[in-house]
Order: sequence, then structure tokens, then C-alpha cells
Amino acid sequence: MSKRIFDISVERFEALPVTEKTPYLMQADGVPYHTLFAQQFGHDLLGRLELLANEIRTIAKTRTGTEFLRSQVAHKRAMLYFSQPSSRTFLSFASACQILGVSTGEVRDTSISSEFKGESREDSVRTFSSYFDMIIMRTPEKGLAEHMAWVLSNSERPIPIINAGSGQDQHPTQALLDIYTLLRSFERGGGLRDRTVLFCGDLLRGRTVRSLSYLLTNYPNIRQVFVAPGPLQVGEDVLAVLKAKSVAYELTDDFHAAIPHADAVYMTRIQDEWDKDKGESAKIDTSRFKFGLDELKLLPQRAVIMHPLPRRDEISTAVDSDPRAMYWRQMRNGMWIRTALIAMTFGCEKRIHEYFRHNC
Ligand code: CP
Repeated sequence: MSKRIFDISVERFEALPVTEKTPYLMQADGVPYHTLFAQQFGHDLLGRLELLANEIRTIAKTRTGTEFLRSQVAHKRAMLYFSQPSSRTFLSFASACQILGVSTGEVRDTSISSEFKGESREDSVRTFSSYFDMIIMRTPEKGLAEHMAWVLSNSERPIPIINAGSGQDQHPTQALLDIYTLLRSFERGGGLRDRTVLFCGDLLRGRTVRSLSYLLTNYPNIRQVFVAPGPLQVGEDVLAVLKAKSVAYELTDDFHAAIPHADAVYMTRIQDEWDKDKGESAKIDTSRFKFGLDELKLLPQRAVIMHPLPRRDEISTAVDSDPRAMYWRQMRNGMWIRTALIAMTFGCEKRIHEYFRHNC
């Protein structure tokens, strides 16, 4: 059930556990108003998003379909506020907006916005809300997106915020595209159930791992295996969720022993931008946590290889041409699932279903 965010103080809201924050972020029909956490998405909502994304990509195959989609929210404007580097998330959100006819503005470098002159981020975001109807926001700071969601919801111009990556904490729309990719990969082989998903790399500081691990708990009998060098092994907060939900999991540093049992291998980059001391990550031996042709030989034929990207050398380019390599398709899936999320947030879900029913 949705609660009203303007009935709670910012201090009380921010102090709540994530699962108790989520009712404040939803619309009455169970759709997110602000999208901040993976915990806002249950099995049914993920199914609704998958269906909508599938319909949108089919509708977009024709010129008339493209024109229909472009007319859906042509009266809306979205601000892309990215104060941390991005290629895929920024471009896929920008493309998703174009597909739906949403015009966009952007700040990608706060040294050329008025933040440089000392304007607070609260004032910056309220300034954006004067001109735009949605803020899509990437930030290096954990908790900032939810703080801004409260600030905006309590202003005279409340508009939705979509979290496009917040510090080391969450990247909910990356998890949506990851789940969408897994659903599409396994749709002919029994669906996303009774599978083993193997995460490998920097699991401590990777926000995509935290968000995806949570979303996977919505599907039956998904075992999660975390393969990392000791200092980069997954955090206790992720494991606490799995324990609470009785999800089977394993922690190991033996990548080769784990690969033959995997249905999906989710590789991640070493996130050295978060090093407390410069060069700290370089001291960790990560040589056994890379996926190349030797690892490909160990991987079952039915399995898929994923990566949120960008990659460095943790997946060899020699793997790219293997049909199990899903990371390029995964990236494009991001555009469709983000289009579905924006359409849903702005209330277009039923119109798109109707168009699909009558025209596709
Ligand atoms: N996966 C991801 O978030 O990529 P970008 O940093 O390029 O947006």
C-alpha cells in the first residue's frame, strides 16, 4: 500500500530500512513514482515491465508504431542529471526518452552548472523541477537520490526521480535490464527458476550486484554463487537479505570449480574508483577472476555470460563471438526496459497494451 511521503519528516524517512521506505515511493496502482531501490520491484511488477518492454520493442519495429510511441508523452520533459561518468545508462535513458517523445535536458558536469558557484544540490534539483517533469539522476553519493525524492515530493513542484546509480549502493534500473535479459535468455528453457547465477569480480563495491541479487530473490529456487578474492567478496548486507529470504548461496574464490554449475555468469569490473588509498585494488590478485577461452570451455552450453559493462580485461574479447555472450544484447535491453519504466511512471501502460492488441 502506498504511503504519503509528505506525511513523514526527512529525518524519519531517511532513517527507515529500505523495505519500509518503498511504500512511500509507489503510486496507487503499484507502479513506482520515484524509482530508487530494487526492493520496489516484486515478481508481478517485474512481469508487467517485461510485458510492456516486449510490446514496446515490437511496436517500435514499424514507422506507425514508432510514431504512436513518440506521441505518448510528448508533453513531458526529463532532466538527465549525471554527476558521475556514464555511457550506457545515460545514452539508454536518453534513447528511451526519444522513443516516447520526452524531450530532455542534461547536466553531466557540475563544474559548469551553478553548483560550481556554491548552489546546494537541493536547490539545483528544485531548479530542475521548475523546467522538467522527471529527473533521472546518477550520483557518486549513497542516499542522495532518496533525499532528493523527499525534497521534491515536499516542494510545490513534485516530480519523479529515477535512480540511475547511487554510489556503491544501488543501480535499480541496471538490475531491471539484467533480470529482463535473464528472462529472455531462459524463456524457452523453463524460465527464470531453478537456476544458479554466479557473480564474479568486485562484489563488495559493485552496486549492480547488490540490486540484481535482491531482484533475483523474486524468482523460485535461484541459487546465488559469489566468486571473488577475499577483500572484494560480497557484503554482509547482501547476505543478510538472502538469509532472511532463505535463498541458497555460496561464497568461494574457486572460479573454475563454480563455472560448470552456472546457468548465468555475471562478471564485474574491479571498481578501483572507490579505493580509499590510491592503488589499493592493484595490490589484490585478481588474475583468477577473469573470463577467457579456458573458462568458456567449462561453461555449460545452456548458460549465458553477462556483464553490466564497462569492462576492462575481466572478459576477453575472444569470448564476444560466442553465442552465450549476452552483454551486448543486455546493454540494448536496457533501452527497452527503461522505456517501459518511463512509460509506466507516466501512466501509459494501458494505452500501449491497447495499441499492441489492435495493431501487432
Ligand atoms: N552499466 C552501467 O551503468 O554503465 P555506464 O556506467 O556506462 O552507464
